[in-house]
Amino acid sequence: MGEIPGILRQNVLDWLAYNVPESRISHILRVEQMAAALAQMHGLDEAKAAQAGLMHDLAKYFKPQKLLEMAQQEGLPIDPVAEANPHLLHADVSAIVARDVFGVTDEEILAAIANHTLGSPGMPPISCVVFLSDTLEPGRGETPELDALRQISQTNLSEAIWMTCDYTLQYLIAKHRLIHPRAIATRNWFLHHSKSSTHPLSKPVSASL
Ligand SMILES: [Fe+2]
Ligand SMILES: [Fe+2]
Repeated sequence: MGEIPGILRQNVLDWLAYNVPESRISHILRVEQMAAALAQMHGLDEAKAAQAGLMHDLAKYFKPQKLLEMAQQEGLPIDPVAEANPHLLHADVSAIVARDVFGVTDEEILAAIANHTLGSPGMPPISCVVFLSDTLEPGRGETPELDALRQISQTNLSEAIWMTCDYTLQYLIAKHRLIHPRAIATRNWFLHHSKSSTHPLSKPVSASL
């Protein structure tokens, strides 16, 4: 199994200890572990999946104003849903922190961090395993629905993505929460392309920060 160089991983853990509550660090470590395990099952780069998992929530506790400012500075489009709920930007901003604070340049890793909340249509396999791990890691609970999604994520990434999107969308509807159009676009793309038993993309798609 590939691993994150020890010094970088320790640097990230030290940074997280100052910027993220302990309960969130436990979630992050479970995402790191599950992403690596799913990567191994699907023949993907485990080290990249683990590194993206470890860094996916770096900006989770940044204040809304900071998230908006960093996204604007990066030139990211701020749509009305993100403007109303800047927390949605924490995925894109976490990728900026990974790049600027920890010197991550790998586009697959940066894309996987940026895609972990809303996904994106046609996102590459490493993004898929981090997206799935964020929602399905063991700490999210033990329900028949979650267990079924965990099973599917081990065999068919595309199917797991749209089904997990449905799961999250149902939750957002039940809670009367805003739904970002990108979440629907992700769900539609993977539903449409999930006929085959493997991920439809063989080549990675570039990160968009
Ligand atoms: Fe997150
Ligand atoms: Fe997370």
